[in-house]
Amino acid sequence: MRSHVVRSYSLPQRLVHWTMALLIFYNLLFPDGMNAWHRVIRHGGTPSPEQIASANVHAYIGISILVLAVLRVCLRLFQGAPLEIAEEPAIFRLAAKAAHVTLYALIFALPLTGMAAYYFGVDISGSIHAEILKMILWALIAAHVAGALAHQFYWKTNAVRRMTVG
Ligand code: HEM
Ligand code: HEM
Repeated sequence: MRSHVVRSYSLPQRLVHWTMALLIFYNLLFPDGMNAWHRVIRHGGTPSPEQIASANVHAYIGISILVLAVLRVCLRLFQGAPLEIAEEPAIFRLAAKAAHVTLYALIFALPLTGMAAYYFGVDISGSIHAEILKMILWALIAAHVAGALAHQFYWKTNAVRRMTVG
């Protein structure tokens, strides 16, 4: 990806980051409607209108995440990102880069595997979505937040600032 020299993430980049974080937490913490729908379908039943509605909430939020992911990559390509932070030890800079690339991959992979399961009945895709990708996402979010805390309180850098107030 191209990176111009900019001091912080642009306002649209920051808005997309935090809106997406909110939507992702919602789907991670409240997938029960979708799970209930899936259980009924798996057992050959017919889901009630309420079950379909709450499964659709999960689906539409997930599809919004996919749309924002496309927008986010475009913003990254056209507006660039601030330089790596020199105070951070090289090994952590490398880890952060790997984590960010994987997070980018997940914001595409989760919605796409979910859609394959929900709209096209691909069960294996549902299992990958609900078990493997979900766990990787949780682990990376934990590492990501730990990294942000280390920047703020240990290395005392402007990392959090450039993704918040700018
Ligand atoms: C980033 C976006 C998404 C996240 C974070 C997410 C997260 C989750 C989570 C946490 C579960 C429950 C896993 C468990 O049982 O513990 C789940 C299940 C499921 N989600 Fe998503 N989801 C996303 C997008 C989507 C989309 C866009 C769709 C479909 C349009 C979808 C369809 C499903 C289905 C069908 C299941 C049940 C799968 C199964 O039990 O095999 N998800 N999702
Ligand atoms: C929940 C889902 C989240 C996802 C998918 C996510 C993803 C990402 C990605 C991919 C980047 C790199 C941006 C780029 O260089 O293009 C980033 C940066 C950042 N994220 Fe998150 N993030 C999430 C949640 C959070 C949370 C909860 C925090 C709170 C501490 C946070 C704080 C930051 C900060 C401070 C940066 C800027 C790092 C820097 O200056 O290089 N993120 N995030």
